[in-house]
Amino acid sequence: MAKKQKYIDLGERGRLNLNNKLNDLTGKEWIKFTKSWFIHRPVRRNGKEILHPAKFPESLVKEFILFFTKKNQWVLDPFLGSGSALIASGETNRNAVGIELSKKYFDISKARIEQNKFKSSIIPILGNSLNIKKLLAGKNFRNLKFDYVITSPPYWNQLERNSMRQSGRKKMGLDTKYSENGEDIGNLTDYDEFIEQQAKIFDEVYDVTKDNGYLTIITNNIYYKKKLYPLAFDTAISLTKRKSKSWVLKDEKIWLQDDKALIALGINNAWVGNRHHQYCLIFRKEKNG
Ligand SMILES: C[S@@+](CC[C@H](N)C(=O)[O-])C[C@H]1O[C@@H](n2cnc3c(N)ncnc32)[C@H](O)[C@@H]1O
Repeated sequence: MAKKQKYIDLGERGRLNLNNKLNDLTGKEWIKFTKSWFIHRPVRRNGKEILHPAKFPESLVKEFILFFTKKNQWVLDPFLGSGSALIASGETNRNAVGIELSKKYFDISKARIEQNKFKSSIIPILGNSLNIKKLLAGKNFRNLKFDYVITSPPYWNQLERNSMRQSGRKKMGLDTKYSENGEDIGNLTDYDEFIEQQAKIFDEVYDVTKDNGYLTIITNNIYYKKKLYPLAFDTAISLTKRKSKSWVLKDEKIWLQDDKALIALGINNAWVGNRHHQYCLIFRKEKNG
């Protein structure tokens, strides 16, 4: 017999189904999030997080966390950067672990977390995400499995490019690469090697994710030396074709950045696009994946 549905009326927010397995959203909020694109205009960054060359906005991460988890569940970000995913988790009463290779960004995340005094457990770890299981064991989290993973890996060598945005940061004395560390996958010069190393990190992530847990990767295709590298598409393909530990690709959500200024790229000469969107790839760990 079908399960009897029980609802609570949350007024403007809509009706909350008490049998909702995935999140604490009402039906109205659930449907709104399922649109394949969204416009998100974050407030301008300030404070120390401006030092990080590729931070994603907490407000954006929060919307994903609210959709893919319930209160008190566990979130992982294996490329923590300046800590957005941990801050968003703390602000939504989720527990979270973030792993970051660079000591400089790890320190920025740690300081931001300490300022906030969250009620949930918010744990930044310094280290290489190729060793997630070891790093978790080192913090007495040997058996921890995450309900949800959200992250943004380096966009291959994107920061190496001599783009106009990068020269602007250089002039202000801000970082234009994450680190000189050989373990930073953003320092790999070969594109195919980058795709494989990135996939190996998501093999580790697979092992520490609950069955049926979701993974969101924010990434993009990138233009380099006069051609487009389909990084977002290759990321999707590489994670779904592992020997074991294959993720199931469920969808993409496209973040439209309609607040970025248009730049005269290739004008009167040849096609160079103004790339004003990013891909949020949604995967799931499914038993027969
Ligand atoms: C695109 S940024 C993440 C930005 C982050 N979402 C934020 O909002 O600040 C990628 C981060 O991955 C880190 N990283 C690169 N290789 C890594 C590795 N092997 N293990 C852990 N972190 C790594 C870099 O230092 C960088 O901070």
